[in-house]
Amino acid sequence: MSGNRDPFAAYVCDDTTLDQLRPVIIEMGWPPEKCNKGGLRNAVQSLSISASPAILMVDLSESGDPLNDINALAEVCEPGTVVIAVGQVNDVRLYRDLLASGIHDYLLKPLTAAQLRDALTQAQLVFTSPKSADGATPKRHISTAVIGTRGGVGASTIATSLAWLFSADHKMPTALFDLDVHFGTGALTLDLEPGRGLTDAIDNPSRIDGLFIERAMIRANDNLAILSAEAPINAPLMTDGSAFIQLEEEFRQAFEMTVVDLPRNMLINFPHLMADINVAVIAAELTLASARDAIRILAWLKANASHVRPLIVANRVPPGPGEISKADFEASIEHKIDYLIPFDQKAAANAAKLGHTFVDANPSSKATAVMRHLAQTIIGTAEEAEGKQDAAAPKAKGSLLGKLDLKSLVAKKDKAHAE
Ligand SMILES: Nc1ncnc2c1ncn2[C@@H]1O[C@H](COP(=O)(O)OP(=O)(O)O)[C@@H](O)[C@H]1O
Ligand SMILES: [Mg+2]
Repeated sequence: MSGNRDPFAAYVCDDTTLDQLRPVIIEMGWPPEKCNKGGLRNAVQSLSISASPAILMVDLSESGDPLNDINALAEVCEPGTVVIAVGQVNDVRLYRDLLASGIHDYLLKPLTAAQLRDALTQAQLVFTSPKSADGATPKRHISTAVIGTRGGVGASTIATSLAWLFSADHKMPTALFDLDVHFGTGALTLDLEPGRGLTDAIDNPSRIDGLFIERAMIRANDNLAILSAEAPINAPLMTDGSAFIQLEEEFRQAFEMTVVDLPRNMLINFPHLMADINVAVIAAELTLASARDAIRILAWLKANASHVRPLIVANRVPPGPGEISKADFEASIEHKIDYLIPFDQKAAANAAKLGHTFVDANPSSKATAVMRHLAQTIIGTAEEAEGKQDAAAPKAKGSLLGKLDLKSLVAKKDKAHAE
């Protein structure tokens, strides 16, 4: 691995985690004595007087201010150390902040052997794969989550249509990720079999890589690949969501666009899913219930994923007066409706009959025209984001490393001065 450092050390707070960790470390061929009891503070103490390992696992559970303490760790850690944090706080903001501060991964307790194996293998890749070397240019990618305020508002219709527009009209390599794992309609809409891809990924997250997604995804056109499932409905989903996060990460590498059909309950169970999403299309109808849930989802996004750009899309809008007016809806959600898609029963029936997406089956419908605008806006978001990224220095995943290099440089200079 990296010079003559220890390959691995861990500082974890509780015996349960230690017991889970040790067998996996033995499996990886590393000395289990390097699994220490004690959290972040102990790590800082030991590393201030000894060499850093190549891969360091630290438990944040007893840390009152994890971000601040991570910075303390950065001061004593040698450059190039890959840090995996462990904790019990399921908070998407913390997760993002940790990644931004240079942490390689954040694992949620209780840990599982599979999850540990996975994270450690990924961490090892940092040393072997050139793509994660410092200075790798981030690929342009836009992830869009389509969230329905309620079932039946047309979220899946919009998700499949957007994926179609990106892939067919704009010729952008696109992944459609149907997270309605039991009842998804992504494949059905296109008259395809969902296959076992997503179910396999959930069962064996350690197998997820570029090759896996190539095999597991089904092709809808030259530029559109779908990952979906009709998971059996006789057992609950057994996942901590890490498979989904890894899949999103793989899509980021392999495609230009990701469209996630994201049922609202998934948002609640796996908030991390939003960490790398750029745009949230919130699909609603002009009804009282839809307004209430739009308010709650918007508030959730503001509190937990403020980096996401929300776009409110009212769908199935009747020609005459509906349950509530556009003006009342906008006033109550305190957000303008970005797009209004008219109700078009004929077009919906036509799409179902042909086994095509709504936009593909009905190129000249007014509803399709609106969805085309929506697709344009989302693509524009990518360009805006790119502009911003050029202006501000890009936030590299290895920023802990960057900080450390700078610090050791300053330290060397000081030393030279003193001599
Ligand atoms: N603009 C529209 N006009 C008429 N029917 C629509 C429209 N958008 C969607 N539909 C229909 O509404 C139903 C529910 O849509 P779907 O996309 O499955 O909703 P969701 O994923 O939000 O549950 C489907 O039968 C779909 O064809
Ligand atoms: Mg749906």
